[in-house]
Amino acid sequence: MKRIVILASGSGSNAENIADYFQAGDYAKVVAILTNKKTAKVLERADKLKIPGFYFNKSAFLDIKGTVELLWALQPDLIVLAGFLWKIPEFFIRSFPKKIINIHPALLPKYGGKGMYGDHVHKAVKENGESETGITIHFVNENYDEGAIIHQSKTALEPNDDIESIAQKVHLLEYEHYPKVIEHVLKEQHGNQ
Ligand code: GAR
Repeated sequence: MKRIVILASGSGSNAENIADYFQAGDYAKVVAILTNKKTAKVLERADKLKIPGFYFNKSAFLDIKGTVELLWALQPDLIVLAGFLWKIPEFFIRSFPKKIINIHPALLPKYGGKGMYGDHVHKAVKENGESETGITIHFVNENYDEGAIIHQSKTALEPNDDIESIAQKVHLLEYEHYPKVIEHVLKEQHGNQ
């Protein structure tokens, strides 16, 4: 059974969707959900899903003996960022080479980088009058939203779409594709085992 650890900062609807997807089979499971926000809704979801939830603060995150050690103990095959908003430090990435992936709610390289997360992305997409948006799933490197792209999917936008409806369309794509892409990455890494 492959081991997935999720890092999330907010609501955690993707975290829950990923956990549900793998709970239905026996290939992989979400063994822990970690958050940098004590009050994040994702912790309630973890509780409901009976998945251990952990909170860490900035100093634990930036100390090699902190969050990285916790992650080592959890022995993840894949670390999945799902709405996790802190930049991942270099030592962290080196500790888990090719094992950290992220989802971004736009078609990178457009609308990426510092400050581009959640509704900020959708607002910028709306303001630029884009006729489409989408999701990008990518490996994490030391720069925001710049790691190698694994998957992109698009959705069309109408002139009357607002930030909320754009977010909804993007979330639907995320729910459909993120679990499958995670499974695909795990299978690639383990020679389809
Ligand atoms: C998702 O749309 C995800 O793509 C985005 O945050 C949302 C989290 O929703 N991530 C970023 O913007 C990262 N730059 P959720 O907490 O309901 O899964």
